[in-house]
Amino acid sequence: MLILGLETSCDETGVALYDTEHGLVAEALHSQVDLHAIYGGVVPEIASRDHLRRLLPLIQQVLAEAQVERPDAIAYTAGPGLVGALMVGAGMANGLGLSWGCPVIPVHHMEGHLLAPMLEDNPPDYPFLALLVSGGHTMLVWVAALGAYTVLGSTLDDAVGEAFDKTAKLLDLGYPGGPALARLAEEGDDKALDFPRPMLHRDGFDFSFSGLKTAVMRKVRENEAAGMLDEARADIAASFQRAAIDTLVARTLKAARAKNADRIVVAGGVGANRLLRAELTHQFQGTVHYPRLKFCTDNGAMIAIAGALRLADAQPPADIQATARWSLDTLATPLAAS
Ligand code: KG4
Ligand code: ZN
Repeated sequence: MLILGLETSCDETGVALYDTEHGLVAEALHSQVDLHAIYGGVVPEIASRDHLRRLLPLIQQVLAEAQVERPDAIAYTAGPGLVGALMVGAGMANGLGLSWGCPVIPVHHMEGHLLAPMLEDNPPDYPFLALLVSGGHTMLVWVAALGAYTVLGSTLDDAVGEAFDKTAKLLDLGYPGGPALARLAEEGDDKALDFPRPMLHRDGFDFSFSGLKTAVMRKVRENEAAGMLDEARADIAASFQRAAIDTLVARTLKAARAKNADRIVVAGGVGANRLLRAELTHQFQGTVHYPRLKFCTDNGAMIAIAGALRLADAQPPADIQATARWSLDTLATPLAAS
């Protein structure tokens, strides 16, 4: 069975075709990063317009590459995300579904992220602990089975990707600066500055990154005032990254111990971070599963496979959905949120 996946929740237009027998057949992605960079962040109106411009040509490209006229089902990101951007994907998916006469499956964006490792050769068995780390979310989720998700903890303020992006902005690394910051960090000394590791000694599994962000901001200003920022940039980047990753790793290992987990899945844009991957793999006794790097950030393949798994599980598609705020916990009654 061929599932077409459409991702339009934020600033990447992602399209992919997934074959339930042969795996991923074709995929295409258009990133809007250049469009938003001059504004220092995603502009929702510009994002929606660009999805509208790009989506159909990308679908045609993917179908042509796979030499397929039409899929057997269409999965699209129904939320959470920018509502105008979501509506482009929802409208396109449902319009094509009507003309092709095939089922249309609304997919939760974070479910797409947490199922992305299922695209790899060695997919995780259930149950597993998922650390979802992106520009908009930082979550620890207990995944008992497909659709049975318990959010154990999430961020009380900034998402970790947001903290990377804001720190990168302070250091003049452009937007989104996470990858550039991680590159700069490799040139610095991660012990040069002792930034706070927030929440480490608190009960539960929540995160907080605003204190770390404020500490970094103070350090940047101090160095600026002393005319030393150029020399200090790499050390600030390295010390920030170390503090953020230490926090993620410590909370994740604590949750893994509490749930007696044998497997951890790391997904979302920050899952591409090399230090996070190295530390978790090194410190966790069980297996750590990651999607390949390009499927850590937003893409159509994760939506296609989530749709395929949902369809195989005989979860009925509901009405057209574009939901800006949508808790992953509610997926126990799948596809019924509004
Ligand atoms: O999952 P994603 O593509 O989009 C959202 O759903 O938010 O994640 C994007 C986030 C951005 O904040 C970006 O700076 C961050 O992931 N990111 C990284 C790295 N690659 C992407 N952060 C740290 N290290 C990286 N290597
Ligand atoms: Zn995402």
